[in-house]
Amino acid sequence: MKVAIDVGYRHFDGAWIYGNEGEIGKAIQEKVADGTVKREDIYYCGKLWSTFHPPEMVRPSLEKSLKLLNFDYIDLYIIELPLAFKPGDVIYPRDENGKYLYHPTDLCATWEALEELKDSGLVKSIGVSNFNRRQLELILNKPGLKYKPAVNQVECHPYFTQPKLREFCDSHGIVIVGYSPLGTCRDSFWVNTEIPPLLDDALLNSVAAKYKKTSAQVALRFQLQRNTVIIPKSFNPERIKENFEIFDFSLTNEEMKLISALNRNERYVQLLMWKDHPEYPFNDEY
Ligand code: A2P
Repeated sequence: MKVAIDVGYRHFDGAWIYGNEGEIGKAIQEKVADGTVKREDIYYCGKLWSTFHPPEMVRPSLEKSLKLLNFDYIDLYIIELPLAFKPGDVIYPRDENGKYLYHPTDLCATWEALEELKDSGLVKSIGVSNFNRRQLELILNKPGLKYKPAVNQVECHPYFTQPKLREFCDSHGIVIVGYSPLGTCRDSFWVNTEIPPLLDDALLNSVAAKYKKTSAQVALRFQLQRNTVIIPKSFNPERIKENFEIFDFSLTNEEMKLISALNRNERYVQLLMWKDHPEYPFNDEY
């Protein structure tokens, strides 16, 4: 985190469920104390986990994050998944047979609780993640809607460019934040490993060679040039630095078109373990 701030990163994508908001807060405080940044230079995204969807649990859930981070506000707070799980502190609630325990999902009621957080000043912006078009429309068409989602954070990279969801979000002023911009890790619990690794792609590597860059830098630059917010993840200081060195070259229109054509309309992150949830978002075309 401190390396990232020193390199120049200011947008940090976090979540209570990642279990590191205490460390994140401490690192930011240290970088504020040493004069590298001010709190207001940092843009932190936090997430409401699925066991806290009931409206009365939303504010306490945010307050847990604020306390850990030692912040008095969060820049962006988003509903992590459109899937409500059995409320409580067990983050992956299951029965004795291992079956996930769900909860009736009322996305509009949860959204209204997020709107209240914005009104209270505890969060600057509110948004969603992993929502499909139908679920976005549920919110957008909600009677009495106060605030539209500022963002929809979804998987997005050259193998999964999300053309239709992007068009829909663009038409409603919803920013796409693209997760897994490097094609994510190869952890088979989360990831469809049948799709080859993005960074091994021949085209990305040949474009990279032309600019003396890496395939990762080309994948990130591609998203930047098509106005997708990118949140690359790395635990490695060299790669954290590498992923920031994308502002000194640009891809031609022809290269942008070729890279766009890599789209396979297949996601790495399918969340199949929750496929039987009534609000599982990825059965719809987009
Ligand atoms: P590591 O943490 O060892 O750097 P995504 O952002 O798409 O979810 O991808 C994250 C994965 O990509 C992590 O496994 C991370 O590993 C790896 N990664 C991050 N940056 C690079 C890079 N520049 N080149 C190769 N792999 C990278």
